[in-house]
Amino acid sequence: MESFSDDILQGLRSTPKYLPPKYFYDEAGDRLFQQIMHSPEYYLTRCEYEIFSRKAPEIADLLQVNLSDFDLVELGAGNCYKSRFLLAELVRRRFPFTFYPVDISSNVIRQLNQTLPVEIPGLQLHGLNGEYLRMLERAQALSDRPKVVLFLGANIGNLPKDKTGEFLQKIHSVLNPGDLVCIGFDLKKDPDVILAAYNDAAGLTREFNLNLLRRINRELDADFDLAGFKHFPVYDPVNGACRSYLISLRQQQVHLKSSGEHIAFEPFEPVFMEVSQKYATEEIPMMAQSNGFQSLTIFYDDRNWFGDAVWRVEK
Ligand code: AVJ
Repeated sequence: MESFSDDILQGLRSTPKYLPPKYFYDEAGDRLFQQIMHSPEYYLTRCEYEIFSRKAPEIADLLQVNLSDFDLVELGAGNCYKSRFLLAELVRRRFPFTFYPVDISSNVIRQLNQTLPVEIPGLQLHGLNGEYLRMLERAQALSDRPKVVLFLGANIGNLPKDKTGEFLQKIHSVLNPGDLVCIGFDLKKDPDVILAAYNDAAGLTREFNLNLLRRINRELDADFDLAGFKHFPVYDPVNGACRSYLISLRQQQVHLKSSGEHIAFEPFEPVFMEVSQKYATEEIPMMAQSNGFQSLTIFYDDRNWFGDAVWRVEK
């Protein structure tokens, strides 16, 4: 809670201003993101759903060939919409494992603890509510088995490209040689397709971004006027960064009463909200290499719009 306030203030005091996307996911944000995932423009979820629904046996084979024994950790598990195919496949094979879904949303973890063992009878589940790395450490403390870490949904894309190395090395340092990771990457494609996914006609992504201002109003007793900001996503086909901004439509001041702070916005001043990084296929094994992983394979959807890469922590 305190870090929410600190992080938000730090972002709003900076030039240029930014807000951390991990705070999108309050109850309303979770709901909006679920709706985004079902929107016609947001292809990412459907692509990865295709991969897991069709290739779960192949993925399970690859994991079992590399590790005779493992527990599964999913970072940013959400509703396990995709991973559940792999979970069901492993349960069907009577493979003994515990599933540790990790999510920043306490809401999501509560839901999963309730529903998943009913939907996948026989599944051993231990939900962890918190940040990725701390909860991965927690899972390591709770379990002696080797690990397979799922990091799906192109969540890695929320890291700016120059921060992924640092993040992957941290994951690497918590894992042991031979452990596996499966990471979902959204791939470069027609820029119009990408941009539309972050600017859906129903305005869900717009609401999703504005909802963070609503959350700040509520939790930090602030007075953002949501009508004073415009959702503006851009895609750079050279570096593959899709960035979302909220643009202040006029000169305005926001008062954060909880800290007694006033934040001034110039007309058309942007607040950087989120990067959703798109990758070229060739970059993926290179990324593995430079961070201490060996790239085993990439599973693709039929259109090659999305890739789930499986890497092994090098011995
Ligand atoms: C959950 C980070 C993968 O970047 O595509 C969706 C979040 N933001 N629409 C993404 C998001 C706007 C999503 N990730």
